[in-house]
Amino acid sequence: MSKPKVIVTRRWHADVEAVLSDRFDTQLNEDDHSMSVQELQDALRNADAVLPTVCDKVNAEVLGVENIRAKILGSNGVGFNHIDLEAAKAAGLTVTNTPEVLTDCTADLAMTLLLCVARRAGEGERHLRNGEWSGWRPTHMMGTSVTGKTLGLIGMGRIARAVAARAAHGFNMKIIFHDPFPPRAADIADLNATQCASPEEVYAQADFVSLHCPGGKETYHLISTEAFKAMKPGAFVINSARGDVIDEVALVAALDSGEIAGAGLDVFEKEPAVTPALAAMENVVLLPHLGSATQETRKAMGMRVVENLEAFFAGETPRDNLI
Ligand code: DGY
Repeated sequence: MSKPKVIVTRRWHADVEAVLSDRFDTQLNEDDHSMSVQELQDALRNADAVLPTVCDKVNAEVLGVENIRAKILGSNGVGFNHIDLEAAKAAGLTVTNTPEVLTDCTADLAMTLLLCVARRAGEGERHLRNGEWSGWRPTHMMGTSVTGKTLGLIGMGRIARAVAARAAHGFNMKIIFHDPFPPRAADIADLNATQCASPEEVYAQADFVSLHCPGGKETYHLISTEAFKAMKPGAFVINSARGDVIDEVALVAALDSGEIAGAGLDVFEKEPAVTPALAAMENVVLLPHLGSATQETRKAMGMRVVENLEAFFAGETPRDNLI
């Protein structure tokens, strides 16, 4: 029997590409370019499975193409706001993602952002590399202590809980959160976390606000002028979730006016474009969407896609079926 034809939209971990090439009739994206609408449509017309990443916009326009051959989108990433699920369903596609395997890695990165911005690590590194450091002195680059402070989580899914565990057990932080779909009482108790009835209740108490909600219509600009005003003066905002949750114009204004003390961002509203004013600010730590970017995690994510594909082509429902 011939192997299913699979098109991969970007370069993946080499070990995963080898497995894909072995088990399927696989077309790789050798030069790792970002595929155009036309290329994504051609992929849907010419393959049994298309494997997009979170940077490919698989929207209604892409999915509206005629004569789709593909039966499954095996997305490489946990977030799926880059895929129009309704349009995918209408086109008869199964869609899968890669939950769980990137939880710890992304939580580590959220803590990296939190620590870097509070302790002025990015600024300090630039200072040193620029040859500006004249030596230790008592008033030099004083940051903000993290240990014992209050961490407010917006969204309390897997990644948020992994951040909370690090913060509570490693940094003795007090954990508060808001989530319209809260986790099990036992998980909340393990973290000694306090549930807040609204995001505003979180903003009013948190020294650090960390975002862990999905992107898309429901959470678009959740963090805008009003939210910044509701935060404690001197609060820090951390975003390792999705860029469009924060209104970047309002963020720049809140940072400029000193309403908040700083921000640590791994994701951006118009990714990969970054609001220029943010890049000019010292109290902002900016990373290029590195949440899941470790060798181990990227391999695990890719292998999870392979697992989903194999189940699908064996006639089973894939473990990470989204629709
Ligand atoms: C995801 O998986 O959704 C991340 O944003 C990329 O790792």
